[in-house]
Amino acid sequence: MEIRVDVTSYSFLVAVISHLLQMAYGQDIKWDAAYTPSSTPFPGSMKCWTCEEASDNYNCNRWAPDVYCPQGTKYCHTLHRMNGEGGSVMVRKKCAAVEDCTPNTVGCSINTDGSMVCIACCEGNICNPEVPTNHTTAIFATITPYDVGSSSHFNPSVQVLLVTLLAAVLFRHL
Ligand SMILES: *[C@@H]1O[C@H](CO)[C@@H](O)[C@H](O)[C@H]1NC(C)=O
Repeated sequence: MEIRVDVTSYSFLVAVISHLLQMAYGQDIKWDAAYTPSSTPFPGSMKCWTCEEASDNYNCNRWAPDVYCPQGTKYCHTLHRMNGEGGSVMVRKKCAAVEDCTPNTVGCSINTDGSMVCIACCEGNICNPEVPTNHTTAIFATITPYDVGSSSHFNPSVQVLLVTLLAAVLFRHL
């Protein structure tokens, strides 16, 4: 399945940079409210791709992009319903509390008609651009140990420097 994302959107760039920083440091990056494009409801809040009952991943990400998560949510939750051929039927993405995202709530279930529902959870700012399609991708991807709070090793000025450098490199190649 092809995953299409609007590369012109700012949030996509932030997601890419977040992902690169996460890969580089194996650590969630806490975006400081001062460096995000709009004001946050509370310090340290995160965003998830969010949509209600989109027909597929493209339409989910296109029409209902990243929104700030309410306090008390820690993960991004993605539900993907597929037909017997593996084609998307419905995509729903939301911010989720710890109760909604446990190692037991993720995975795929196959119905008698051959349709399948896969649920994935992830931790980190706008960490759910994609949809789970099988047991390999329908996972609970935590960065911090389960149920334990996290804090970044890097202070905001170092983060801003890294982001600026990465953004410069990315833009040069676009
Ligand atoms: C699971 O889905 C991913 C992404 O679509 C694909 O690359 C991978 O081959 C699939 N794995 C299995 C076991 O089907």
